[in-house]
This record gives sequence, C-alpha cells and structure tokens, in this order.
Amino acid sequence: MNELQDKVALITGAASGIGRAAALRFAEEGARLVLADIDEKAGKALAAALPAAVFQRCDVSKHEQCSALVELAEKTYGRLDIAFNNAGISDGPIPPGTLDYPLELWDRVIAINLSSVFYCLRAQVRSMLKTGGGSIVNTASIAGQIAFAGVPGYVAAKHGVVGLTKTVAVEYAAQGIRCNAIAPGFIETAMTKDVLGAEQGRQMMQMAVPAGRAGEAREIADLALWLASDRASYVNGALMAADGGFLA
Ligand code: NAI
Repeated sequence: MNELQDKVALITGAASGIGRAAALRFAEEGARLVLADIDEKAGKALAAALPAAVFQRCDVSKHEQCSALVELAEKTYGRLDIAFNNAGISDGPIPPGTLDYPLELWDRVIAINLSSVFYCLRAQVRSMLKTGGGSIVNTASIAGQIAFAGVPGYVAAKHGVVGLTKTVAVEYAAQGIRCNAIAPGFIETAMTKDVLGAEQGRQMMQMAVPAGRAGEAREIADLALWLASDRASYVNGALMAADGGFLA
C-alpha cells in the first residue's frame, strides 16, 4: 500500500469529486500532496485531514496561479513527481447547442477545461525536467473521444486535452516524463448531480452504460493512481476510459 511512497503529487480540482477521491487515494499510498482548487474552505479542510498535504487556492484558468502551484511543490517538498490536472466545469445542465451557445460560456469552458491544462503542463514539465522526469495525468472525458450534442465547449475542450496530452507525451518521453489522460464516463459527483439526480437522467444513463450504473469517484481515482505510479512505466500518451463500458 505504498505505491506513491514519498512522491510529491499536485492535484487540481482537489476539493470535490474525482480530485478529492484522488487526494485521499494518493495520500493512502504515501504521497506528499499539493492540493489546489477555487473552493478554499473544502480544500483547506481536506489538506488538514491528510498526513502530508498543503492547500493553495488556485483558479486554473490563470496561468500565473498554475505556475505558483509548482513553485509551492518545489518550496515545500523540493520537487514535483506527479501532477493530476483534473479541475473542470461542465457547460450543462441544459445544453444550448452550437448555434445558441453563449460566447462567454465558450470562453469560460475553454479557459477552465483546456487552457488550464496547457498552463499547468508547461510549469510542471519545466519542473520535472530539472529532476529527471515524472508522471502527469490529465482528466479528459468520454467527451474527449466522442461528441455529445449541445455541449460544444465541453467536447472541444476535452478533445483538446487529449491532443495536449499526446503532444507532451511525444515531446518529453525521452526525458522521463509520461503524460496520459483519463476518460471518465458518468461519475457520481457534484458535477453530475443535476443529471443523475433526476429520474429521467438516471434512467438514460442506466440504459446507455453497459454496467448499468454510474461510476464512483474512487474508481476514477484508482485509474489516475495507477497511471501516476511507476507500475504504468511504459504507458505514455494514452487515453484510458473508466466508463462502465460506455465507449466499447
Ligand atoms: P466536481 O464538480 O465534483 O469537482 C470539480 C472541482 O474543480 C471542484 O472542486 C471545483 O471547485 C474545481 N474547480 C472548478 N473550477 C475551477 C477553477 N477555475 N480552478 C480550480 N478549480 C476549479 O466534478 P468532478 O466530476 O469531480 O470533475 C473533475 C473532472 O472530471 C473535471 O475535469 C470533469 O470535466 C471531469 N469529468 C467528470 C465526469 C463526471 O461524470 N463527473 C465525467 C468525465 C469527466
């Protein structure tokens, strides 16, 4: 149970859902953590409950704040080994469709779900190059592999995350940096509570997902943990689904 013993891991969107579950799992496996979120209250409470964790309020759509997270990891622990770029927002719950999609929503969804990953990756790769490598996991989505009508911003951002992941994977593999993406399906978190909390939404999900149920945040955290760990040492540039068979 010491898969990440003494590794230094940074997690964005750590105050809730998948990021929170990852913080708990990574800590169980011995990681020292930098946790980041815009939700200061929940993020601080989580960090205080873990054996080796610091929290930093960070809006991932601001590049200086993404760089500051890496600086905090270096200042606190001397290095950065693992990054889980996971913060994100949905553009639901009522999809307006491409023609009616508000321009401000487009800017916001692209900034928080895609530009954020670019900003984080640059700071993280720079740091990992100094210490001989590391492992980066980005949260994409099933919407990074297929389209869903009505949510062009989310679909475009998550496809972009997959493209960035592959780019960094091929650019820095020789320097010991792995970069992979995960594609969660329908997962029970705050993000999906409106859809999965409604009877109609839950029934649609149950019909569409071969497993017949939504996933739990911990099931996604376990995939991120595996990709982050040395057990995935030859996995690079991959997009791995955890979706109950939805994409199969
Ligand atoms: P969540 O809503 O429970 O957690 C998202 C976290 O990101 C929250 O703590 C929120 O405060 C934080 N956040 C939002 N905007 C931020 C910003 N500008 N800067 C920093 N932090 C910010 O949602 P969940 O489900 O845990 O989502 C995590 C990731 O998983 C997201 O990237 C989402 O797109 C992705 N995802 C989720 C799926 C699901 O079914 N729940 C399916 C596929 C992907």
